[in-house]
Amino acid sequence: MTSPEGRGAAWTEERGTSDEGRLRPDCGPEARTTARLVVLVSGEGTNLQALIDACGDADYGARVVAVGADRDRINALARAERAGIPTFTVRLADYPAREDWDAALARACAVHAPDLIVLAGFMKLVGKPFLDSFGGRCVNTHPALLPSFPGAHAVREALAHGVKVTGCTVLMVDEGVDSGPILAQAPVPVAADDDEATLHERIKVAERALLVGTVGRMVREGWSVQGRKVRIGS
Ligand code: GRF
Repeated sequence: MTSPEGRGAAWTEERGTSDEGRLRPDCGPEARTTARLVVLVSGEGTNLQALIDACGDADYGARVVAVGADRDRINALARAERAGIPTFTVRLADYPAREDWDAALARACAVHAPDLIVLAGFMKLVGKPFLDSFGGRCVNTHPALLPSFPGAHAVREALAHGVKVTGCTVLMVDEGVDSGPILAQAPVPVAADDDEATLHERIKVAERALLVGTVGRMVREGWSVQGRKVRIGS
């Protein structure tokens, strides 16, 4: 991330397209309109669906203006298309180097002038070119209580470790693996007969509520990041 410190805000006006979505200070509830979300996905898209559904309520404070993916033919893209939301795909294999893919992903997002980017089951790490544009206003959701079990196999590793309680985390994205400042967490008890699939499904129920709640609070109340501490609202 270019600068780990920063402040997001609720929005004062609908913004046109620009290379970088810039946050504007809140001038009061009467001036606020709807924050623009770009959601990045790789799979089933149930977290995306929860955000789309929440955005159906005008009081939520956000709308999904585009959905991006790193692969084609996934249910998450079909969900976006069914909701009439523009989609784009930026495949790592189409670029000579990871930085080129990362920069192309940033450009594809910037076209939609997002106020906030949400990684909702996006199974790629983003790097410096992306975070130069969107650091400080990019959040991710993870199916474990970070800093325990970062990475792509969090549920499997939590089960293998024998934890009795796991959960989910919504965090700011930085250049590490699930290492950014934590916005919110929710616990999920592990049942004695859980396997990876049953536990992940239960975590995802908590995860959808946590993601929708956290993003909603961010766009309505603003947020600030000081080192590892994130504060939503003033
Ligand atoms: C979520 O548990 C997310 O944290 C993990 O993959 C799952 C994605 O679920 N990285 P979905 O695609 O939103 O249904």
